[in-house]
Amino acid sequence: MSDRQAGRGNSGSSSGGRGEEASGRRQIVKFSFYRIDPAWRQLPVAEREAGKDALVAVVDGFSDRLQVRSYSVVGLRGDADILLWQIGERLEDIQALATEVMRTPLGPYLSMPYSYLAMTRKSQYVSPAEAEAHLHLHPAESKYFFVYPFVKTREWYQLSLEERQEMMNAHIAVGRKYPSVKLNTTYSFGLDDQEFVVSFETDEPADFLDLVMELRGAKSSLYTLSDTPIFTCISLGLRETLDTLGAPGDPVSAAASQAAGEQWQRVADDADVPDGAAKMIYFAGEQVALVRTGQQLYAVANRCSHANASLAEGTVADGALTCPSHGSTFDLATGEPSCGPANRPLTTYAVRTEDGGIWLAQRAPVPGSTSGA
Ligand code: FES
Repeated sequence: MSDRQAGRGNSGSSSGGRGEEASGRRQIVKFSFYRIDPAWRQLPVAEREAGKDALVAVVDGFSDRLQVRSYSVVGLRGDADILLWQIGERLEDIQALATEVMRTPLGPYLSMPYSYLAMTRKSQYVSPAEAEAHLHLHPAESKYFFVYPFVKTREWYQLSLEERQEMMNAHIAVGRKYPSVKLNTTYSFGLDDQEFVVSFETDEPADFLDLVMELRGAKSSLYTLSDTPIFTCISLGLRETLDTLGAPGDPVSAAASQAAGEQWQRVADDADVPDGAAKMIYFAGEQVALVRTGQQLYAVANRCSHANASLAEGTVADGALTCPSHGSTFDLATGEPSCGPANRPLTTYAVRTEDGGIWLAQRAPVPGSTSGA
């Protein structure tokens, strides 16, 4: 797990409350799992596409009040299709978004089989500085997301703070062995049925599996009452998430095109990436940073190979991209790090401009293309 997750305990406190944690500084966190009615797939393509467009527009309209991240669960669970992870300040905004989603043409075909409401809170098992950082979530935007509701036994809360701290120290030590996995612990006491909602972000599902297995051996695990259902989710842009619902006549998705051997996909308008700027887009299910410097356009994996920071938020200079988190610098043409702490190269993509658009491919550029990386 990364340092930022620190408190990382699936444990909580029965003490505290307002006071040191003014309610205005804590965040409301909502995990809404939607399921699509199969009847929706029998609608004409144009109606389905209009429904997707409307839902995307609704979510965009809340961007001043809520951080909303979208994930597809299609094919990974049988009882849910899409997750909208929402982070905001007010319950009313969470409710208003749910209402507006149901008012779209997709609304009559959507149900919400799983719904988890929580808030951020300082952990009592970490240093004051780490605890303070827990009041605001900073999603890592990793490719995979794992979520489950969590309940401790009542015996846990009868233990002394010292006994719980000792077990949590061991629990935290296990977590620190897995820096590729970032934990977000949120608290639901009194707000919802569970006590916590824990979510993990990573690009390495195997690391998450190993972490969870190792935690089963920790003494604190004896005090787990419930930690299911577990949701394995794939991070995608909202439009791409909706496209994973699939239906007869749908345009072929970028991922399917790649699987079928097609090379080039239009991913952005040329004007979206001005000189000296970077923009994150999704390509075949991956986050890619488009970067323009001078007359040259580049496309590289958006996740820093050190600890997953979003490189599109970094700085561009002299054909190199510098990570905003710890300063690793990558050669945009080769993806190789020229300055650490990163020591692994980034994936690079073939890129060209045509018809006012930016096109990507995962294979070697087609001869005669205008530019490549
Ligand atoms: S995340 Fe550490 S250098 Fe990029």
